[in-house]
Amino acid sequence: MSDGPFLPIDGARLIGRQRIMDAVGATRGGGVHRLALGPADTEARALLIGWACARGFTVETDEAANLFFTRPGRDPGLLPVAMGSHTDSQPHAGRFDGMTGVLAAFEVLEALEDRNASHEAPVICAVWTSEEGGARFPHGTIGSSLYAATRDKAAMMDQTDNQGIRFAEAVAGFHAAFPDLKRREPGGRFAAFLELHIEQARALQDSGNRIGVVTAIQGLRRYRVSVTGEEAHAGTTPRLHRRDALNGATALIAALRAACLDEADLLRFTVGQMSVLPGSAAVVPGRVEFTIDLRHPERQILDGTTAEFRRLAALGAEGCEAAIEEMSRSDPTVFADPLVERIDAAARRRGYPAMRLVSGANHDAANIARLSGQTGMIFIPCLDGISHNEKETASDADILAGTEVLADTVADLAGLWG
Ligand code: HGY
Ligand code: MN
Ligand code: MN
Repeated sequence: MSDGPFLPIDGARLIGRQRIMDAVGATRGGGVHRLALGPADTEARALLIGWACARGFTVETDEAANLFFTRPGRDPGLLPVAMGSHTDSQPHAGRFDGMTGVLAAFEVLEALEDRNASHEAPVICAVWTSEEGGARFPHGTIGSSLYAATRDKAAMMDQTDNQGIRFAEAVAGFHAAFPDLKRREPGGRFAAFLELHIEQARALQDSGNRIGVVTAIQGLRRYRVSVTGEEAHAGTTPRLHRRDALNGATALIAALRAACLDEADLLRFTVGQMSVLPGSAAVVPGRVEFTIDLRHPERQILDGTTAEFRRLAALGAEGCEAAIEEMSRSDPTVFADPLVERIDAAARRRGYPAMRLVSGANHDAANIARLSGQTGMIFIPCLDGISHNEKETASDADILAGTEVLADTVADLAGLWG
């Protein structure tokens, strides 16, 4: 393994852009509200497109409104080395989730341009559309799953937000706002894909490490559960005659949660959304729908837990019927050793203490791994592991350190000369 290049990064420019993006969709609570392809996300994308045009990078989009900023290499026939993340956020969430990875990738392109660097392969900064599942659209990692064809295209395009707008319409709106962008065919392989991201947990902070070399992303299953009872008058209906869907749902959730109390505390069970119908104070709920977000590093645990969920649902709950529908899944993704080694070596060359870890959060890299020769992730700490929360915090120094490791790894992979 070569001892690898050191690509100087302009920290002032990088952090300056983080502050600019912090203000795009800024919330009073100190976070951002930047739902996929909404006004703030579109504003962030417009800034990136402007910065890319100013440096002469090629700017492309595709059928999912993903963005690709490319600095050409000497040999256009080589597979590109790509890096990137997402610009959209959960509602009223943190400033760093996704955006920091995009800005780090963009800064690598800038650093190459600053040096008029010559490299073999094209280098790409990618912005994946609508990564945040359950935020605007039900599914997560939509853009990268369409690019990598890991999900059904029609189903992804037809899903709607809570205003009834289809993802396809949101994409068409973006294309209409930027009609001159070239189109890139989906599915093009990369020689490698790297994603820098905040850890969204606290292993780095607790261990005093600055860089997380991600070895895998745990698996994820998302379900929608419907519990059906019977609407009734809140005043006249005795308990004996009620089939209260909320009563049934809460009893079922308690049973499902109990089924997830693993000794190792690795199984993640979350009910994040719930609707109670008809939603009147004077009517016994006739129908409740809620989501389950289930995660674990091992696929067979996810399969076994799902089987137990279905058994519990079939028992009925407080006289109501319950049905579980799978909405989406992402199987555990293991990153190939050579790239993991390269990232580790790049961190060590820079003198940054690094540790290997598994990602608890899902990422676009899980989809891109299905078509990229090598895929890897670089984590930086976030304060107390807080994320999907306006209080999310990452230090300027760690953002810079992570970007330097990303830059050196990408420069090495792209065959940087001089
Ligand atoms: O939900 C996730 O794991 C990602 O942060 N969107
Ligand atoms: Mn993210
Ligand atoms: Mn997120």
